[in-house]
Amino acid sequence: MQNCYENILETVGKTPMVHLHCLSKKSKHNFYAKMEYFNPGGSIKDRVAISMIEEAERRGDLKPGGTIVEATSGNTGVGLALVGAVKGYKCIFTMPEKMSDEKRAILCAYGAKVVITPNGVEPDHPMSHYSVAKKITEATPGAFLVNQFHNPDNPNRHYHTTGPEIWEQMRGRVDMIVGGAGTGGTLSGCAKFLKEKNKDIKVICADPIGSILYDLYYHKKIVDPPGSYKVEGVGEDMLPDNVHLNLYDGFEKVSDQEAFDMTRDLVAKEGLLVGPSSGLALVGALKATEKLEKVSNVVVIFPDSGRAYLSKAFNNKWMVENGLMSLDSMASAFNVVVTAEQLFTDLKKNT
Ligand SMILES: Cc1ncc(COP(=O)(O)O)c(C=O)c1O
Repeated sequence: MQNCYENILETVGKTPMVHLHCLSKKSKHNFYAKMEYFNPGGSIKDRVAISMIEEAERRGDLKPGGTIVEATSGNTGVGLALVGAVKGYKCIFTMPEKMSDEKRAILCAYGAKVVITPNGVEPDHPMSHYSVAKKITEATPGAFLVNQFHNPDNPNRHYHTTGPEIWEQMRGRVDMIVGGAGTGGTLSGCAKFLKEKNKDIKVICADPIGSILYDLYYHKKIVDPPGSYKVEGVGEDMLPDNVHLNLYDGFEKVSDQEAFDMTRDLVAKEGLLVGPSSGLALVGALKATEKLEKVSNVVVIFPDSGRAYLSKAFNNKWMVENGLMSLDSMASAFNVVVTAEQLFTDLKKNT
């Protein structure tokens, strides 16, 4: 074990692989989770934040005293803010309104400015979080637009770190990897590395209903128009350069209900407090393995922590308000906060 790190950035990566023991017991397949919330910023995006900034420095696109600008659903922002803090850059992030309060608060805690943009506007609309980030970059001297959706330093980082870690941790015994795609960096980078090791490894993308990626893969065009969904960080309304569809072997559509139910199951049954994109990826993995004859080892990417979603996926009231939980389930939930007074009144009523 290394005793002391030079700075927090050196602790990024080398995340644990955890066997999903409860789920695997009920299945003929073995499911393993790559636990990315172990990164210091709490998500897989810490990895690519380092590569995208260090490569920009190397090229001279980002100079001392410069400003990092990015359109982010939150996690990339946290990774970039972490890198910015260590290296002394200011950060400005644009983020759609639907992202959780916790994500906004954490970016401000790291010292970043957060600019909120409206939900559900077309990517080329002047008020989309992409367009606003571009405008801020043009107006800010010394600004560098990270551009995670099209920046090759994003998938490259997964090619050089996440992919090799998966191969090593599984000792090469991996048949399938499953994850969501936001920028596509994670799945594309891992797919490239793992397929170079063994071309038979299947790469499956779990896509929220409302994303257009599934249609682009199977129909080469948009069949269902982009719709809104509650899972954050995955699915797209445009095709990022970093989604390398030629490396993927299939897509599975997953609903919000399936993703949120699985996310809550993961903490209750496996003790893993992860975010909804992890639940979504695991539902995708279960759907993909239903079609498999042979017993398989399946690695599922769990991108972030459930702590960023305490006001959403783990808040019964929010779940009911968003049609993801029934009032009866909320009324009978065991995991609630009560005062001692209320508890004693209830006990008296029941005796
Ligand atoms: C919570 C969450 N899950 C999954 C992803 C998808 O990762 P990628 O952008 O590498 O496709 C992201 C990306 O921001 C994310 O924030």
